[in-house]
Amino acid sequence: MDNKEVLLRVEHLCQYFGPTKAVDDVSFDIYKGEVFGLVGESGCGKTTTGRSIIRIYDITSGSVYFKGHRICAGTLSYREAIKAARKELRGNVTAERRAELEKIIADNKVEMEKANIDQKNADKEYGKQRAEEVRKEYEELIANATDPEEKERLIKESKDRIKAAKRSKIVTQIQMIFQDPIASLNPRMTVKEIIGEGLVIQGYTDKDYIEQKVYEMLDVVGLVPEHAGRYPHEFSGGQRQRIGIARSIIMNPEMIIADEPISALDVSIRAQVINLLNDLRDKMGLTIMFIAHDLSVVKYFSDRIGVMYYGKLVELADSDELFRHPLHPYTNSLLSAIPIPDPATEKTRVRITYNPLEEHDYSVDQPTLREILPGHFVYCNDEEEKRYKEKVANE
Ligand SMILES: Nc1ncnc2c1ncn2[C@@H]1O[C@H](COP(=O)(O)OP(=O)(O)OP(=O)(O)O)[C@@H](O)[C@H]1O
Ligand SMILES: [Mg+2]
Repeated sequence: MDNKEVLLRVEHLCQYFGPTKAVDDVSFDIYKGEVFGLVGESGCGKTTTGRSIIRIYDITSGSVYFKGHRICAGTLSYREAIKAARKELRGNVTAERRAELEKIIADNKVEMEKANIDQKNADKEYGKQRAEEVRKEYEELIANATDPEEKERLIKESKDRIKAAKRSKIVTQIQMIFQDPIASLNPRMTVKEIIGEGLVIQGYTDKDYIEQKVYEMLDVVGLVPEHAGRYPHEFSGGQRQRIGIARSIIMNPEMIIADEPISALDVSIRAQVINLLNDLRDKMGLTIMFIAHDLSVVKYFSDRIGVMYYGKLVELADSDELFRHPLHPYTNSLLSAIPIPDPATEKTRVRITYNPLEEHDYSVDQPTLREILPGHFVYCNDEEEKRYKEKVANE
């Protein structure tokens, strides 16, 4: 991809649940228009990464930038630092230490304030920007409308849409398709209500407009108008996932986080959902973060792939590059788990297990994410970095 524009930047993201470091110092960029695959075994923090990005959590620390706006900023770490310093101040401390602690408190307060302002302004600025775009769009439509009734309808519609745009949160531009298509759909709502809900929440009041949009979305995801009045339980898993997709794209997002959208589906219909997402990517210019358990699913669909292990991003590279030069032992273990379509070779396939304690000695020489080849990052220490570089040079 030439001319890469960073749409989403995740910087030192940490999301802890008590002692569980679900996501631990994870950084990556997602470029506009690409499919970024995030893979790793159950519990490694994939969903938490996605949910942190769309601000379901007040992240522990780190930042997330969307189109340059800081949309998530961890304040928990600042608050904890302040709390710890205050506690120490209450004890017996030297004058020198007191000054240090007071500085820690002041600095962290500044950071916390910055984080809060950034998050608030991100929405405000974005809302202004969106409202202006919508206003321009309608200005032309209204000017070109010859039928007075149509003109009036457009004026009404534009008011609604500008109002909604002003209130639009930057995070509505990032929609998540949830892992479990059954649990994520309200069983007491009709498909029409489910798909239209986002617009209602955003402040749309024009029922005809909402309905028209819902039918448009049903069509886009391959469902029919008759489905609109039914309830989620009346649908198959694949259809439910389509409902989930319709619900997210009605918001006209720039980015979709698809959290294992096909894991719960029959093998026979997985390709259909992948194809649908691929179509949408082309039609709507979507950027997709695609979360999956194993590499076989993301291989053909992703431009780049990030591999996670226990809250850490352990490898990140272009798809082809990752399959050509898998470097981290965990990536190799994931690769060895992909079944081979040829039965003869499949029989001899050796599964590599990954045991971090056997693989790495991080007692002195500590690991960080390092660039081994341009754009190819591996979580490793000095000794491993040297070894990986030699390996790729000799291949
Ligand atoms: N709300 C929460 N409260 C406490 N712990 C949580 C919460 N959400 C996730 N965790 C823990 O964080 C870790 C990462 O969970 P996460 O759901 O992100 O994994 P995942 O990679 O999406 O797994 P899977 O492939 O099974 O969906 C797990 O240890 C999980 O138990
Ligand atoms: Mg998950």
